[in-house]
Amino acid sequence: MSETIKQTLLKNIEDRTARVAILGLGYVGLPLAVVFAEAGFHVVGIDPDQRKVTTINRGESHIQDVPGEQVARLVAEGKLQATADFSALQYADAVSICVPTPLRKTGDPDLSFILDATNELAKYMHPGMVIVLESTTYPGTTREILLPKLGDEKGLVVGESFFLGFSPERVDPGRKDWTTINTPKVIGGITPTCSEIAAAWYAQALQKVVPVSSAEVAEMAKLLENTFRMINIGLVNEMALMCNRLGVDVWEVIDAAATKPFGYMKFTPGPGLGGHCIPIDPLYLSWKLRALNYTARFIELASEINTNMPRYVISLIQDGLNQQCKPLRGSRVLVLGVAYKPDVDDLRESPALDVIGLLEQKGADVSYHDPYIPTIQHDGWEQHSVNNHLEAASTADCVVIVTNHSSYDYPTLLEMAETGPILVDTRNAFGVAGKNHAKVFRL
Ligand SMILES: NC(=O)c1ccc[n+]([C@@H]2O[C@H](COP(=O)([O-])OP(=O)(O)OC[C@H]3O[C@@H](n4cnc5c(N)ncnc54)[C@H](O)[C@@H]3O)[C@@H](O)[C@H]2O)c1
Repeated sequence: MSETIKQTLLKNIEDRTARVAILGLGYVGLPLAVVFAEAGFHVVGIDPDQRKVTTINRGESHIQDVPGEQVARLVAEGKLQATADFSALQYADAVSICVPTPLRKTGDPDLSFILDATNELAKYMHPGMVIVLESTTYPGTTREILLPKLGDEKGLVVGESFFLGFSPERVDPGRKDWTTINTPKVIGGITPTCSEIAAAWYAQALQKVVPVSSAEVAEMAKLLENTFRMINIGLVNEMALMCNRLGVDVWEVIDAAATKPFGYMKFTPGPGLGGHCIPIDPLYLSWKLRALNYTARFIELASEINTNMPRYVISLIQDGLNQQCKPLRGSRVLVLGVAYKPDVDDLRESPALDVIGLLEQKGADVSYHDPYIPTIQHDGWEQHSVNNHLEAASTADCVVIVTNHSSYDYPTLLEMAETGPILVDTRNAFGVAGKNHAKVFRL
């Protein structure tokens, strides 16, 4: 019986008649839905956000990395559709879960989106389904949270009547060279057969699939990748603080170290961590370890250093204004770039939010410009981007580069600094031109 279920599913995967459902149509889910649809599967994306559903069905994209024309074509060809109605899951053979995994206000993992999606999926479970969780989470989530609801409670046997696994998403928004389709995809199943089926499904659409022996290995691999990044950013941020004390140019130090062709990987300091992944994912791991009476010391230390970077940026602004005999209170400070990294429209966890909040707390007159983020709504306040960054800079006391979007006119800002605002550069946006410049204060 189970062999028949497995063979039928594998055949449907191979001839691409398996019906694919993607739960969650955000930064991860929509690119994945598009990749499966391009591979020839019929894909339904399910998302409770009716606006996203309507946008996609109109043939438009709400994700910067997914071209609207591609969505329009796939929708017109009947390969891709979106719905807010979870009953579409009754027709699905292969389901990928790409819902958010944020932190609660307390800093603990918020699994409510995974739980909601799993509960909906459980209603429509039937034999012969393969399910892959993509949301970043702590090791054990797939086995401890999804398996009981999708298998045991439904009388379905994992690895025989249905197949369950975890595959971390590695998408890097804004990146053109490594995208969903060509970034190797790690996949681990609850059983070896689960790994085999999940890998067979993904291999139809992605260029390289890397099967591993369990869901926990796949879950932990993602956390190793993101913890590695978070800790290295913490290290290089601390280097910036130490170089400042020593009077050494940290940017030149980093460039020098990066000439080593082996054993070193370049990371750069900045105003703090941002995005949905790096500031959050390692805390899922440390939370899980706390329950096992283990303190994840590297994570806690790096987190402390990174979290304090916005305060350090404020101290740079204060020092710069001080040299102009100006207090921060009442000074006009223009923040350039609020997205968490250059040339993307993603504001999640952006350190700019902390920088703006701290500046306002200290009585500065704050405005911001970001070509990708017309409005910020955060913690009960709302601000709109000024229209033109150069015009706004001309009347500011201080311009602080929080995110170095490539569209900014850095040479003109430097010229303006001669008689105008001081420039606080948290990203080395001015390069060597900002070094030893009387009006430029670099991280
Ligand atoms: N954004 C990234 O760069 C990135 C990279 C790697 C991994 N991840 C991980 O992937 C997961 C998804 O992240 P994202 O950036 O796509 O988030 P997102 O917020 O952009 O998208 C998530 C989508 O899920 C929808 N959703 C919420 N509850 C749902 C439910 N019960 N059923 C179906 N859909 C639901 C939301 O409406 C939203 O559209 C997270 O765990 C994240 O950590 C994200």
